[in-house]
Amino acid sequence: MSVYSVAAASAAALLALGLPVRAQDEALVKRGEYLVNGPAACSNCHATRNPDFTIPAGMEFAGGFHIVDPAFDVYTANITPDTETGIGDWTDDQIIKAIREGVDPEGKVIFPPMPVPTYNNMSDDDVKAIVAYLRTLPAVNHEVGESTWNIPLQAMPPAKGAPAPSADDPVAYGGYLVEAVAHCFECHTPMGPTGPDLARLGAGGMLITLAPGVTATTPNITPDPETGIGGWSDDEIRNAIISGVRPDGGHVSPPMPVQWFANMTQGDLDAVVAFLKTIPAVSNKVERTDFQKANFP
Ligand code: HEC
Ligand code: HEC
Repeated sequence: MSVYSVAAASAAALLALGLPVRAQDEALVKRGEYLVNGPAACSNCHATRNPDFTIPAGMEFAGGFHIVDPAFDVYTANITPDTETGIGDWTDDQIIKAIREGVDPEGKVIFPPMPVPTYNNMSDDDVKAIVAYLRTLPAVNHEVGESTWNIPLQAMPPAKGAPAPSADDPVAYGGYLVEAVAHCFECHTPMGPTGPDLARLGAGGMLITLAPGVTATTPNITPDPETGIGGWSDDEIRNAIISGVRPDGGHVSPPMPVQWFANMTQGDLDAVVAFLKTIPAVSNKVERTDFQKANFP
């Protein structure tokens, strides 16, 4: 047998076994890398953080960021492939269930604040791509603290996994990015008495605790011209998302994931903006906190 026919025969054998072909694998990892470090901004939560919120080198996915809220006191998980302190010995299905349903392999519910209700809408292809990318990260041995919750916890139902809408339809694809990947509304929607006030999606005013005594409120991103972003041009909206600078020159504070959104493609940004312009305008004037005014003028 010639070298050529051996190679061809083994490629055929791989295909027959249904094993992934290398090029497909690479495309999957690339898509996962883009989502995780772009619109999904997983490290905005899953990085280890210094007291000044900077991320120590190599600790982007090693977890341990402490998030405290009246409803919970959590440490983000180490999602590197370390088998002792990370998710190295979880199966793909176990990782997918944690991301889209919020349940760990022991059956424990692990959210909020992980935006599982958003990820529940994620396509099978995209969640598989994210897992494929997480598997390529260097394993970091880093033990994180134990999370506790003061509210009743409920898992999300099994995800449908429907394919993402075509990027040829920017409003539909932008809606998918916002509601299945980038969790914009999980931060930008006000809380009602029993959870996010879904009748005022995107109206802002959610109070987020960044550290003990350090809080931020989220702005109104509905098309309301007075209290939202209805008077902004597309360029101004895109610029705020990727550079954190508003049309009036003011700066947006954390936890807006500007440094991750900066990796988004022009097409994806355009789609997000196209979708945002279609949501109902809600009048809701949001006051910034003293921390925001003092540190991000
Ligand atoms: C708003 C913060 C936040 C974001 C954003 C977030 N997570 Fe999480 N995630 C958490 C917290 C907190 C936990 C740990 C809860 C616990 O202690 O069990 C967690 C747990 C997990 C787990 C389970 C691991 C374990 O050991 O319990 C996985 C897997 C995971 N996240 C993956 C991701 C991926 C992938 C993304 C991006 C697509 C992401 N998360 C985005 C906060 C977040
Ligand atoms: C983890 C929470 C979080 C997520 C996720 C998030 N944001 Fe934000 N966003 C904020 C905060 C906090 C600010 C700035 C608050 C300040 O400084 O007044 C902000 C500011 C903004 C602004 C500037 C508006 C203004 O009036 O200043 C826009 C536009 C915006 N976000 C859009 C988005 C979009 C679109 C997404 C999803 C692709 C998104 N955000 C995801 C928290 C978040």
